Amino acid sequence: MYRLTCIECGREWDDEHYTCECGGLLEVRLNLDEIEVDFRLDGQNITVWKYRSLLPVKINPVTLREGGTPLYRAEKLEKEIGVRRVYVKHEGLNPSGSFKDRGMTVGVTKAIELGKKAVACASTGNTSASMAMYAAKAGINAYVLLPAGKVALGKVAQALMHGAKVIGIKGNFDDALRIVREVCGKEGLYLLNSVNPFRPEGQKTIAFEIADEIGVPDRVVLPVGNAGNISAIYKGFRELYELGIIDAMPKMTGIQAEGAAPIYRAFKERRDYIEPVENPETVATAIRIGNPVNARKALRAIYDTDGVAEIVSDGEIIEAQKLLAAKEGIGVEPASAASVAGLRKLADRGMIDPDETIVCVVTGNLLKDPETVVKVCGEPVTVEASVEAVLEVMKS
Ligand code: F0G
Repeated sequence: MYRLTCIECGREWDDEHYTCECGGLLEVRLNLDEIEVDFRLDGQNITVWKYRSLLPVKINPVTLREGGTPLYRAEKLEKEIGVRRVYVKHEGLNPSGSFKDRGMTVGVTKAIELGKKAVACASTGNTSASMAMYAAKAGINAYVLLPAGKVALGKVAQALMHGAKVIGIKGNFDDALRIVREVCGKEGLYLLNSVNPFRPEGQKTIAFEIADEIGVPDRVVLPVGNAGNISAIYKGFRELYELGIIDAMPKMTGIQAEGAAPIYRAFKERRDYIEPVENPETVATAIRIGNPVNARKALRAIYDTDGVAEIVSDGEIIEAQKLLAAKEGIGVEPASAASVAGLRKLADRGMIDPDETIVCVVTGNLLKDPETVVKVCGEPVTVEASVEAVLEVMKS
């Protein structure tokens, strides 16, 4: 059904490998002429596993009913930003509250298929929350490395409660990933970061779901951290295109935080490789990443589709988070709001045709990061337990 192929040298590997001897990333290449696609893009019964005929697993999936997230038309955003048609895909409504569940249902299923007894990852939070949840469902052990003090509380809470062994390291995400890759190699743990080629296979279903519901938009905008998701969504559209199911590709548009923007810098200089950022920093801790492992795939996605990369400041991110929450009723964490902040910036600069149909992918739920909310919105007012006191505050 598929081959696991190095994106740099084309060498093929078995399912146990994550990278090639040459250092290149591996990619699942489906044998598209052999595959019998057994779904129709009819907008019905949308879930990750509707698209099973394009997912490279052989056993029954470990599933918590992920996917099928709402794609909202955002009319107030359209007016505010000055673009004709904007949709927001709310990935925060997946079982663990982020898009990572799409990758984990496939990744943990693959772990079981390969007979693994334990999985591991480095994470800025959401990957660990999701992995812990699916490992719990599958009945295997989970080990998680986090940058200590830099992960939003809701995500740590999830990893802990779902029973993962959670280890904070005195370093950033890039350090954690380097260490966990080595530990997995030494200890035979199954690595479930997006360097694992089966993770993006689940995440590509975001593309399938968008195409299923509204066809191919002109542009897909999303936050970029380790750069797995933009690569995955691109791959999803590409497969539909190669199968002849769709006849156009959306412009892949990646948004990074100003303080953690190696992909943006590479794009600006039209490079196909990144120069890592030493000390990444941003309020959007989910994308506080200086050395994204999937950079090569992500840049290819952007260049191939005539897309762009852009940066936004922390202030712009929070403003977009508030806008989504207060005007559209869509509650997301800061990293997710980067997509909307980026769209607004590109539109303000005339870099987007106002007639475009655009999908912003918002990646994680508001509840993930309550501490930032309290910082930017303040604590609620507390008054005496009387009608008078309450009315006084209401009228003030
Ligand atoms: N948005 C959220 C909410 C995320 O958690 C992440 C990544 C991204 C966007 C960026 O996606 O890495 O595929 O480019 N979070 C990872 C984690 C790194 O460990 O949870 P990406």
